[in-house]
Formats: sequence, structure tokens, C-alpha cells
Amino acid sequence: MKSDALKRLPDQFFAELVRKTMEVKKNHDDVINLGQGNPDQPTPAHIIEKMKDASSNPLYHKYAPFSGFPFLKQAVADYYLRECNVTIDPETEVAIMSGTKTGLVEVSQCLLNPGDTALVPDPGYPDYWSGIALAGAEMVGMPLLPENDFLPDFQKISKDILTNAKLMFLNYPNNPTGAVASEEFFQQVVGLGQEHSIHIVHDYAYGAIGFDGERPISFLETPGAKDIGIEMMTLSKTYNMAGWRVGFAVGNKEIIAAINLIQDHYYCSLFGGIQEAAAHALTADQTCVSELVKTYESRRNVLVEEASRIGWNGQAPAGSFFAWFPVPDGYSSEAFADLLLYEARVVVAPGNGFGEHGEGFVRLGLLCEEEELREAIKRIEKLNVF
Ligand SMILES: Cc1ncc(COP(=O)(O)O)c(C=O)c1O
Repeated sequence: MKSDALKRLPDQFFAELVRKTMEVKKNHDDVINLGQGNPDQPTPAHIIEKMKDASSNPLYHKYAPFSGFPFLKQAVADYYLRECNVTIDPETEVAIMSGTKTGLVEVSQCLLNPGDTALVPDPGYPDYWSGIALAGAEMVGMPLLPENDFLPDFQKISKDILTNAKLMFLNYPNNPTGAVASEEFFQQVVGLGQEHSIHIVHDYAYGAIGFDGERPISFLETPGAKDIGIEMMTLSKTYNMAGWRVGFAVGNKEIIAAINLIQDHYYCSLFGGIQEAAAHALTADQTCVSELVKTYESRRNVLVEEASRIGWNGQAPAGSFFAWFPVPDGYSSEAFADLLLYEARVVVAPGNGFGEHGEGFVRLGLLCEEEELREAIKRIEKLNVF
């Protein structure tokens, strides 16, 4: 009964992780969940207050302008100028979206035809795959390896693949590896995109979460980036607003127009109150963001130190709220994740769920209190696998 497009959709790997977790939770109330990417802290109070006031504005009870209120696009432009020193035209270079998960799926439908090739990071965020499958395009993974600091090595991609490629997804700070990109790397990306006419979509979901005093750079800071690409950013992670569903894309005018076109057919934009609260979040005092980053950094330090104490040596992530740790000898990612779940009641995401090159790793989220992270490592210590 399903259309061919739906039949092409990849399995939702994380549905299985959730199922296994629920199974263990049925009999245990002390499961520590480091498996998901759902921020654990509440939305900052000043954003909630703005939403409360805005919800009674009758203007917002009507349909909103289909591509979003101009004040939110202006707030996005203000954010980019303030945080990244990038000038954005709010009218033509911003698309408002109901979270970037939606945008990341839509953009493939905007830019790819059946038979085209799209390049994706491997390991990488699985939602890139869904849009590519719906568009009937082919997907080619770009291995992200520890020896290359989890950046793709473009020299290793064949000429044929580069010639057929129409779209490339990148994501720094990276989910799942926690790696960040350098200016030189983004310059290479722009050069490659220009040479082979490949559109670039940079997923900047964790753009506000950089550690050790470093702000992760925006792709749009690179000269020429706007000629070939866009960047997507979400309020889910920066302001703990995952349930609110608000994100945006910025950059190349043609791609932004294509996203607005497809959205014109799918949606009628977001509730105006959410747009007002989102604009406020982006433009108000950003102390809540620096506090959040401090919290994640401190959790990161606890996790890395405790893990190293038991002989589990993983690289400290430079950004995002994930740590990407190797599995011990003799285990696959999935077998190790199962061991932790069933024997230590600690949920981690097996690396193979993010692609072939995720095998050999597990992803741990920094999304619980430090005490729980310590307890998780104590339980893992008892398994005597390191
Ligand atoms: C790398 C990455 N991109 C995009 C998203 C989507 O975020 P949202 O749909 O909440 O904007 C996530 C969420 O987990 C993510 O990890």
C-alpha cells in the first residue's frame, strides 16, 4: 500500500534502541539514559514568559505569513551578525522552519532528482538519509575517521562521484563525534563545491556549543560559502527548545527560495507566539547559553576523567553534547551497547546506527547530571571490560 518513495525510507535505527530501553525500564527504575539527544534542561524562564504573553496576541491566532514573520527573520539576521559576524538579508536569505529535522529532509527534495548523488558524513545524523531516499537520489558516505579529526578526506572521493554529486551534507560541531571544523576545512569545502557544482548544506545544530573557550565557526564565515550553500540552525539545542519545533536556514538565496517554495505547499509556518519567543531567545541576553555551555563542559570533563580512570580512553569532544568513545576489543558497537544496557542499565547509542564507519564506537550524551555520569561509569567499571 505504501508509495515507492516511502518504501525507500531507511529503517529508524533509534526506534530499536528506544524499544530495548523500554524493555529494561519495565523491570528497573535506575536506567541511566545516555543514548538520546534530547536536552535535559528546561527552556530558560525569560523565553517561556515571552511565549505566555505572546500567546494572547490575537494576531497570532490567525494564519501566520507562510514564510514566517519578518521580525523572526530579522532576529536571525541579528543573531548571525552578532555571533558570527556574517551579514544576512532577512528577506531573501532566511527560511523559517519547524525544526531543522524537517528542513534537512526537505532540502533534498528541493535540490535532488532521481539518480543524483548526495554526499553524507559517515558516521552522521540519520535524517539526511531520509530526504535523499524520498528524492530517489543515491547516497555516498564520506568516512569521518579519528586520524583525520573526523573531517572527510576529499582526496579519497573519486572524480566520478564528485561529478555526479549535487549536494553535500556537513555537520560541525559534529553529531555523533563531537568534532569541530576549521577555517581551512571550510575553505576546502567551498573550493570543492565551486569546482564540481555541489550545493553544501551545513548543519550547525550545535553551533553554540563549543568548549574550552572556542566558538565553533559558522560555514557562512567562509568567503564564497553563500554562493553555493546554506546553513541550518535550530533553537532546540541552544535554548533547550526541542519541543517547540523552531529552526531556520540561512545563506544562498536560490536554495532559501526553494525551501520557502516547498514549505508553501506543506505548511502555514509556525504559531506566531513561538516565532515571537524564538526571536526573543535569539536577541535577548545570552547568559543562558553561556551557562548551558559551562554545564555541558563540566559534564564532559567528568565523563572523560571518570572513563579514563577505568581505562576507557575516549577523546574529549570539542563541541556538541556528545562523546564518541571506542568500544573495547572483541565487541561490536551493538554488542557493547547491549552489554551496557542489559548488565549495567546504561543506555548508549551504538555507533553503527550512524553509518558503516560508526562501527567500533558508541555515542554518549552529556544530558544528565554529573552524579549520574559518575554512577554510569562506576557500573561500567564493574563489567571489567577495560
Ligand atoms: C545534527 C543534528 N541536526 C539536526 C537535528 C534536528 O534538530 P531539530 O529538528 O530539533 O531542529 C538534530 C537533533 O538531534 C541533530 O543532532
